[in-house]
Amino acid sequence: MKKFILCLLFFAFLFNVSAQFDANYDESKVPEFKLPDPLKTFNGQKIRNSKKWESKRRPELLNFFTENMFGEVPGELEIASVDILEESNNALNGKAVRKQVDLVFKNRGKTLDFTILIYLPKTEERVPLFVGYNFYGNHTITEDVEVIISEAWANNNPSFGIINNQLTEQSRGVRTNRWCVDKIIEAGFGLAVIYYGEVDPDKDDFSDGIHPLLYIDDQQQPAANEWGAIAAWSWGLSRAMDYFEQDEAIDESRVVVFGHSRLGKTALWAGATDERFAGVISNESGCGGAALSKRRFGETLWRINNRFPHWFCKNFRNYSKNEEALPVDQHELIALIAPRPVYIASAEEDRWSDPKGEFLGALYATPVYELYGKKGIEQTEMPAVNQPIQNTVAYHIRTGEHDVTEYDWEQYLKWASEFVK
Ligand code: GCU
Repeated sequence: MKKFILCLLFFAFLFNVSAQFDANYDESKVPEFKLPDPLKTFNGQKIRNSKKWESKRRPELLNFFTENMFGEVPGELEIASVDILEESNNALNGKAVRKQVDLVFKNRGKTLDFTILIYLPKTEERVPLFVGYNFYGNHTITEDVEVIISEAWANNNPSFGIINNQLTEQSRGVRTNRWCVDKIIEAGFGLAVIYYGEVDPDKDDFSDGIHPLLYIDDQQQPAANEWGAIAAWSWGLSRAMDYFEQDEAIDESRVVVFGHSRLGKTALWAGATDERFAGVISNESGCGGAALSKRRFGETLWRINNRFPHWFCKNFRNYSKNEEALPVDQHELIALIAPRPVYIASAEEDRWSDPKGEFLGALYATPVYELYGKKGIEQTEMPAVNQPIQNTVAYHIRTGEHDVTEYDWEQYLKWASEFVK
């Protein structure tokens, strides 16, 4: 049995690697496509001002993305209780306050809780904050020994000591490079992180995580237009926001949602659906994130829907190998965040995420920002590597691989200090 499972894992790995190799990476093979105009309604009406955008176009786009891509959250679920698990005024060598706050949800006789790890600079004033999910537990983002290790299901990763789907002490601090906590605190921002697997384990199984708390009767999985995992994760970010509104130390009007890769897709959707987020940073979010689907470069809708059938709602499969039928594209997802600041970032070697498609997503969202007199991306050519463009819509492509680096955070901090006021 063990051999069989190992064999299966090996073939899954091969499939994954070969998918990345035989994807299209040739600009000359990008099909011709026509992008929908964010400033024209589905029935052809031109949108000339922000009022019409808000009353007509934004709602129809939001509705399309909800019903056909990320899925509807089928009900409301409020925080049942907030438990402060731990608190210290002397974290990070005395530079910060640390809190570990558990949010509990109850419905249909089921309970789900998730823990937010929060670091805040020591000050009397309310602080702005970045909030985002991590892939392998809160204890991976710092060496801090007080950070509680989650007991939730995790994807195996033997190099991080994660076997049998359980997080362990061995992975403490393995992702410090992705978070730059010290720099964030020094810049006067707080940081809040959540392990995404506590809200919904990242596997094609709808019997766990938050979904069952909102099933009706004997429902076993979401309906075709109901929430996949990304919408569930983004729901979790909104509940974290509900908590920030109650926390006197946090300035809830300056909360920036951050995410990398699948969690960068999640950050965009959280920013689109919850206007309380003051800004969005989407790091290398690729297909289903900032990259235009119709380019079919790197990862495509068919590949993502096959490999991660639980991320989007089932209706989204209608567009696998059928991108031309999509009446929207990802620039319009970004535009849903307008007029709030949004930062899209790519990495040169991360071709799977289609850096050019990510840039074009930001560029073509710009007309909506301009309705509000905000500056988006003005140049139509991609900037050179490590030459950020920072306006209300910001973009950079840095050298290197798919990752979050110190360079990325340096840009985000500079930009957020200027644009998230
Ligand atoms: C895979 C997937 C991407 C995703 C990435 C990640 O590569 O194909 O869509 O962004 O995982 O989340 O790391």
